[in-house]
Amino acid sequence: MDEGSALSALVPAGPQAAHIHTLWLVMLAVCALVFAAILGALAIAMRRAPCGDETSEPDTSMIGNDEPAVRRAVTFGIAASAALLITLLVTSIVIERALAQLPLRDALHIRLTGHQWWWEATYDDAKAANVFTTANELHIPVGRPIVLTLEAEDVIHSFWVPNLHGKKDLVPGRTATIAFRADAAGTFRGQCAEFCGYQHANMALMVIAEPPERYERWAAAARTSAPQPLEPLAQRGQQVFLQSTCAMCHTIVGTPANGRRAPDLTHVASRLRIGAGTLHNDPVTLSAWIADPQRIKPGVHMPAHALPSADLQALVAYLGTLK
Ligand code: CUA
Repeated sequence: MDEGSALSALVPAGPQAAHIHTLWLVMLAVCALVFAAILGALAIAMRRAPCGDETSEPDTSMIGNDEPAVRRAVTFGIAASAALLITLLVTSIVIERALAQLPLRDALHIRLTGHQWWWEATYDDAKAANVFTTANELHIPVGRPIVLTLEAEDVIHSFWVPNLHGKKDLVPGRTATIAFRADAAGTFRGQCAEFCGYQHANMALMVIAEPPERYERWAAAARTSAPQPLEPLAQRGQQVFLQSTCAMCHTIVGTPANGRRAPDLTHVASRLRIGAGTLHNDPVTLSAWIADPQRIKPGVHMPAHALPSADLQALVAYLGTLK
């Protein structure tokens, strides 16, 4: 996991996660109380148990007697159980309502599509020219509500960034939404939370919450086309990219590559990780990934590329320019 990235429902970074954390604390307290009470009752019962052996006469003194103490204990147990269950029910209803009341004025709308095994994110905007697509990494402004529209391309996936909100499934053929807000800056790891095939565990999503000015700078850069390579090595790498199978599945805005089957690579060099959170984004791992993704992430829909090593080096140099 990257330095400073968090994945914990116990450290809420926004109001939605804070509500869920409160519910968790209430449930923990109630369950701990019940557990302690049961252990206490068990200890008392064991102390009071008659100590006989096989030669003792059976103790029949209780038969036929009314047992007011037992009756009181059972009545108290039923009443306490009902009261605690109602407490949990009321708390979860109150939390559910609180979750639905996040103010959505001036919300940032992002369409998030789950694929085997990566995330496609399209940032919506009233101006069509401002819409852009990225993958596996969301940048969001701190303090501004985010509305995600969730869709799935192939099988059911589940969006889960525990520091920001609970889980929400992405179901093929349906559209769901989830709204949250980050009130603290940070890098939060999300994880697909619904088994979706071989590489389900390697379907992570990084959410980078940052101050609004920084977010705006990132979004402005993300809207631009990829820079044209200036160095001869990177220029050769661009030719390799466009002439090999890469361009059939990936998009690099500003080049003829416009495949939609795989992550958009227009600004891939600015991402923290590659392979949907699987690997650090550096030239060595990137080149190992391109050469043989099946070795790193078996079953992934990206084929191995038997490129001559000079071509591979050029390709990695080109991808490294895509800031
Ligand atoms: Cu996608 Cu699990």
